[in-house]
Amino acid sequence: DNVVNIGLIGFGTIGSGVVETINKNIDLIENKVGKKVKLKKVVDLDISTDRGVEISSEILSTDINDILEDPEIEIVIELIGGYQPALKFILMAMEKGKHIVTANKALLAKHWTEIISSAQKNHVRICFEASVGGGIPLLQPLNESLSANHIISSYSIINGTANYILTKMSEEGRDFDDVLKEAQKKGYAESDPTFDIEGDDTAQKLIILTIIGFGVYIKQENFHVEGITNITQEDINFAKNELNCCIKLLAISKLVDGKLEVRVHPTLVPNDHLLSSVNGVFNGVYLVGDIVGPVMMYGPGAGMMPTASAVVGDCIDIIENMEKPVLYGPSTTTVKAIGNITDLK
Ligand code: HSE
Repeated sequence: DNVVNIGLIGFGTIGSGVVETINKNIDLIENKVGKKVKLKKVVDLDISTDRGVEISSEILSTDINDILEDPEIEIVIELIGGYQPALKFILMAMEKGKHIVTANKALLAKHWTEIISSAQKNHVRICFEASVGGGIPLLQPLNESLSANHIISSYSIINGTANYILTKMSEEGRDFDDVLKEAQKKGYAESDPTFDIEGDDTAQKLIILTIIGFGVYIKQENFHVEGITNITQEDINFAKNELNCCIKLLAISKLVDGKLEVRVHPTLVPNDHLLSSVNGVFNGVYLVGDIVGPVMMYGPGAGMMPTASAVVGDCIDIIENMEKPVLYGPSTTTVKAIGNITDLK
């Protein structure tokens, strides 16, 4: 068939960005995939609030079955976030043979094994580039372009909200709570912003990054996670003035004597390191491969349009690779062995 129908679950900030992206760049997208691409249904509990994007009222619905039970919908974008009913919807959609695009890092980090097994069993792909680093091309390059490497270490700033707070505290001397409120207003923060500031969101993304980069799945309860709530203006000034460093919330995965060390905590970063120039809502991932050496990925880590860019990119990727046989993970190659921390030799 020459039309690909997409269903979108969740018409919030990112969902609205997806609608806007498709509206704006449909010609480009259709030219790239060589097919008609149609957003057939958008399901949300609230379909009356104006999101400021152009959308026909016919495609809006409050009934999830308008997506799950429609055999013409081949790709389902899940953007409601959280564990349930997102997990249920994703599993049901995959059982119906639908491919999945999601930005849901919390869900992937917690239910990785179940979700990927279901994708394999049902021969569908699940893509989640938007789940880590917002609009930065990260997981796909890591899994494809860098797949000739063993990744030796990765140091990542992967929470836009926390980095925005630390940056504004440092550059403008502003108050923590005041900047957090601004990050919420800009649509960067999670609906529960404690996930951002306590390090959970960073940990969830690190879990996904560690699966793709190191082939190891580690549960959050098995590594150290500390957020930025104890960082004071005094700490930041001391780091800056006495140590020539900045404080960044880092997600670290690195090989030490054949074992993988995984942790999340505020870290002193020397001002001459590339990561020190990752400021505001921008994210940066600095990793070292055994063949390529150091690589830095950098870009907008949160927000409506950057995240929508990654979501729609995943849709295009799925449309272009739909016919390929073993289809899961952000690439068409197999995600490497998945196990616990001791599995890595
Ligand atoms: N709350 C997240 C952040 C959104 O601030 O990075 C992007 O995943």
